[in-house]
Amino acid sequence: MADYKLALENITKSFGALTANDAVNLRVRAGTVHAVLGENGAGKSTLMNILYGLYKPDSGRILVDGQPVTVSSPKEALASGIGMVHQHFMLVAHLTVTENIVLGMSGQGLMLDVAGHTRRIEDLSKSFGFDIDPGAEVIKLPIGMQQRVEILKLLYHNAEILILDEPTSVLTPNETGPFFELLHRLKDAGKTIIFITHKLEEVMAVADDVTVMQDGKVRASVGAADTDPASLARTMVGREVLFQVKRSAHSTGETVLELDGVTAGNDRGLKALERVSFEVRAGEVFGIAGVDGNGQTELAEVITGLRSVDSGRILVAGKDITQTSVSRRAGELGIAYVPEDRHRDGLVLDDSVAQNAILRTYDQAPFASYGFFNRQAIADHAARLVRDFDVRLQSIDQEIRYLSGGNQQKVILARELEANPKVLVAAQPTKGLDVGAIEFVQQQILNQRDRGVAILYISTELEHLLDVCDRVGVLFSGRLMDTLAAADATPERIGLLMAGVAA
Ligand SMILES: Nc1ncnc2c1ncn2[C@@H]1O[C@H](COP(=O)(O)OP(=O)(O)OP(=O)(O)O)[C@@H](O)[C@H]1O
Ligand SMILES: [Mg+2]
Repeated sequence: MADYKLALENITKSFGALTANDAVNLRVRAGTVHAVLGENGAGKSTLMNILYGLYKPDSGRILVDGQPVTVSSPKEALASGIGMVHQHFMLVAHLTVTENIVLGMSGQGLMLDVAGHTRRIEDLSKSFGFDIDPGAEVIKLPIGMQQRVEILKLLYHNAEILILDEPTSVLTPNETGPFFELLHRLKDAGKTIIFITHKLEEVMAVADDVTVMQDGKVRASVGAADTDPASLARTMVGREVLFQVKRSAHSTGETVLELDGVTAGNDRGLKALERVSFEVRAGEVFGIAGVDGNGQTELAEVITGLRSVDSGRILVAGKDITQTSVSRRAGELGIAYVPEDRHRDGLVLDDSVAQNAILRTYDQAPFASYGFFNRQAIADHAARLVRDFDVRLQSIDQEIRYLSGGNQQKVILARELEANPKVLVAAQPTKGLDVGAIEFVQQQILNQRDRGVAILYISTELEHLLDVCDRVGVLFSGRLMDTLAAADATPERIGLLMAGVAA
């Protein structure tokens, strides 16, 4: 028999009428990186949650080293050598690295031998080149480091199979290289890795094998060397993906959004933006490039009113709105916002899709009048958004937390774009979306541009910026380094500015 570390046989899982996994077969060779690809809602996370004991499959079985195993909890999964790092991390923020790693270890009281655990964690960390301080409080570590803590935790519990669900979506571009090196070290140590991603170039760079899922089924399983991004995309989406949106020539109008010397702090009270000035005209997409954490979040927040400025002014259509409330900016002033952290700022996870679709306008006609909700209007609105944006779900009355990550993002986009905004602030709008959905969203943003909306498009992904922006400004350390017209904005020039090197 072939050298399969892991085999999933005929796994089926339904949620009510929806079959999220439909007789899935997956074979993963020992010591390889196996990429799992698929559109938003294809069933990737569900399959991995089954493998990690979080969901019970309706039928099918799991074999490790050729032996059937039962995994009815993450603890049992780990006992079979299977570990998982989720799309959203599960660390306890205010505990130390050591505490997080030994947390929940059965039988061995943490109090018994903290020093021993700490020493072993430090050794393990060093052997993989991690450079993690076991005594550090998790919340104080950057995201890339927290991810390493999650992986270290699995290694410490002797996981042989590591499931990584969209691990690169939380990393900045310069953290991705070191992360790939880590994957190679894990492979060299004999670990088997299942790697979920939407980025086809990442598949080509690190995967040995690729499995493509669509509508809960496996469409193809191939060696990475025997395929290419275009055919992967075609298999995934079921049609040709162009990787290039159509951008028509057009002229811009009056200045709509203007920042004039804006200075603001971040949550830790440090300076996040320093005298930032720029203008965005009607019908213009102004891109903000930069390495994550150089003031992008704060920039979006001062414009939408979620953060106050220390000095400087913000104007919309020539009117000073610096002191205007969040709700007036979103309502009368027409500033739409696609936030980067959708769970924190974009959605109420316990509410239905329909309620989330009117989150910013729930108290207005036609959704409410005289203090009563108009259920029909709310339902019609949600149904339209779902249809226009191809949101995959069972029902608009479903709690939005049960939608796949990418489909949650589509609900936010639909809600914000359908509101007929004058200004659109889009922060990482394509994060977590599949290639087909990215193309769709980029096209929607260009449609808004053609309607005369002034758009601020913040992204760490240079290619996406260059695809849709008319001009690109680069933020570095809270300052706007320079602004380039699209024609002059080569990746090299922007890259230098992102590193703080002025022209
Ligand atoms: N607990 C649940 N209850 C109801 N439906 C669910 C539940 N978990 C997942 N689903 C549904 O199962 C389908 C598959 O979702 P899943 O999260 O596996 O997709 P995915 O491939 O990981 O997508 P993405 O790329 O967007 O993360 C979706 O339609 C989702 O709404
Ligand atoms: Mg998922």
